[in-house]
Amino acid sequence: MDWIVVADGVSKIYKTGEINITALRNVDLKIWRGEYVAILGPSGSGKSTLLNIIGGLDRPTSGKIYVDGVDLGSLKEGRLARFRAEKVGFVFQFFNLIPTFTALENVMVPAEIVGLKAKDARRRAEKILLKVGLEGRFNHFPHQLSGGEQQRVAIARALVNNPPLLLCDEPTGNLDTKTGAEIIELLSEINTEYKATLIIVTHDQRIAKAADRIVNLVDGQILEE
Ligand SMILES: Nc1ncnc2c1ncn2[C@@H]1O[C@H](COP(=O)(O)OP(=O)(O)OP(=O)(O)O)[C@@H](O)[C@H]1O
Ligand SMILES: [Mg+2]
Repeated sequence: MDWIVVADGVSKIYKTGEINITALRNVDLKIWRGEYVAILGPSGSGKSTLLNIIGGLDRPTSGKIYVDGVDLGSLKEGRLARFRAEKVGFVFQFFNLIPTFTALENVMVPAEIVGLKAKDARRRAEKILLKVGLEGRFNHFPHQLSGGEQQRVAIARALVNNPPLLLCDEPTGNLDTKTGAEIIELLSEINTEYKATLIIVTHDQRIAKAADRIVNLVDGQILEE
């Protein structure tokens, strides 16, 4: 079986002072390589927590998570950071670009982190920026770009190392309807052309429609389909 993500009994409990908050309860989830999955659920149901655990940004309190055959629990911080840089692209609601870097420089960052020379990182970044439709915007700073253009830069940055897994947390949450539709279109293209597995947390029904499968989270648990 070619699963890219396997979550096996994943729970997450946040301890803040006296209070324990259970964000995920015994979540089992398998995602095929190349699949396009939308994660839906009410606010506070654990969607971002699950996405961050799949991407190795956070660790479960119990249970196991395998990505591309690797048990993330077996990786120490340094190896986990390396894993993220090579295997996972992240796209967030508020773009999270570096404000003092140009579009091109933002996209070059992950390529340089995995050890590419500046010249090669630049070439790759230019290519992917063209792909996401940002010709003529390479030297713009984030504040000189529209929301949709900033999200395109963020998507280019997420893809620059050609990761098998693209994780998006409400990628259209901060965009108007039309711009959101363009970003959804771009994400679908990426899924088909790059064969990237897409996992998108969203409230956007259009993404739910475009996805191969919907996973519903309620109170930290997956509802049976
Ligand atoms: N770092 C943290 N420390 C303590 N509690 C947290 C932390 N992160 C999340 N939580 C709690 O865990 C639960 C799940 O949060 P999470 O952010 O995963 O929800 P979500 O489904 O993404 O919600 P939203 O749709 O509002 O983004 C919430 O009750 C939240 O308050
Ligand atoms: Mg969230």
